[in-house]
Amino acid sequence: VRTPTPEDKFSFGLWTVGWTGTDPFGGPTRPALDPWEYSDKLAELGAWGITFHDNDVFPFESDEQTAKKIVGRLKDAADKAGLVIEMVTTNTFTHPVFKDGGLTSNDRAVRRFGLRKILHAVDLAAEVGAETFVMWGGREGAEYDGSKDVYAAFDRYKEGLDTVAGYIKEQGYDLRIGLEPKPNEPRGDIFLPTVGHALGLIAQLEHGDIVGLNPEVGHEQMANLNYTHGIGQALWSGKLFHIDLNGQRGLKYDQDLVFGHGDLISAFFTVDLIENGFPGSPDAPRYTGPRHFDYKPSRTEYIDGIWASAQACMATYLGLAEKAKAFRADPRVTEAMTYAGVYDLATPTLAEDESVQDFLAAAEDIDLDRAAQRDYGFVALQQLAVEHLIG
Ligand code: GCO
Ligand code: MN
Ligand code: MN
Repeated sequence: VRTPTPEDKFSFGLWTVGWTGTDPFGGPTRPALDPWEYSDKLAELGAWGITFHDNDVFPFESDEQTAKKIVGRLKDAADKAGLVIEMVTTNTFTHPVFKDGGLTSNDRAVRRFGLRKILHAVDLAAEVGAETFVMWGGREGAEYDGSKDVYAAFDRYKEGLDTVAGYIKEQGYDLRIGLEPKPNEPRGDIFLPTVGHALGLIAQLEHGDIVGLNPEVGHEQMANLNYTHGIGQALWSGKLFHIDLNGQRGLKYDQDLVFGHGDLISAFFTVDLIENGFPGSPDAPRYTGPRHFDYKPSRTEYIDGIWASAQACMATYLGLAEKAKAFRADPRVTEAMTYAGVYDLATPTLAEDESVQDFLAAAEDIDLDRAAQRDYGFVALQQLAVEHLIG
């Protein structure tokens, strides 16, 4: 696989390579570096951009001046290294004050504090030139059903999101919000557990036009869902604003593995959709945003392992992109997709201008036996994908 270049649009969260290995059972296994040390190295490896939470860069308790100074230093380092700061987000989950959430905490004073923190991070995002403002409500949720008035929680979630989106418009910032669904962890049940739930909330917002999604591979898979279908529906809805790529193996804690180190064939079809679009819908929206990795170098690795894992994310993506191109260009695949009816699905079921009355009156005989006996050849098509993948 070739070396990544900025044209590939790979970006990394500072908290990914910056994770020191602390988990609920053990302390750090690696030292923390300064933010610019991570960004310099990522640039050297061929990344195009970086992303961060406010408190990946400056401590929670920093005064405004200190925060500005540190962010300024990171921005200078990124500029020098030729890196874009494409996304900024807020940490409303680490500090104990957020233990019952930021926007949906039962404590109104906490909600007011959380909302202010988010609005300050929006200013920061605009200042450093980010295009996307991600909102992952990791602490918005509950362990106990009796502890939350879910109706009120959604009112508060909507209020919070509309306030943030309204503020973005009012300030004239060129920013869009990407909601990040996750089913659980750290809360027992997180609000907006899946792409579909988030789309449902966005549809109820006043400023929903600038609110979309940042779906993460592992998060959908933790809910036993199909990530490629999730981003497919987000694209169909015009809401795929950003993506978090990583790996997950089955229903367990959020593993944040290297992209492709979980379900590889699912990763193949994810890359295939991103790089090649929907097979039978050439006019459908395409994802052109950052190829953003939100993973964790396993805590067994030391500093060399951090960089090896970051390289692995990009190499896996590029390798899969090559395979997916070859898959689509293979005449056997075109033939198998034709046989399977993949291209036929784009034809509307009713004819142009056909009324439901005309439709009902149409004397149209389907040979039910023949249709029931149709062989779709989906398995043969899938085997071609596997051949390309391992070939
Ligand atoms: C997680 C999430 C986070 C978010 C990040 C950006 O499971 O911890 O994926 O890493 O992506 O907070 O909002
Ligand atoms: Mn995650
Ligand atoms: Mn994420």
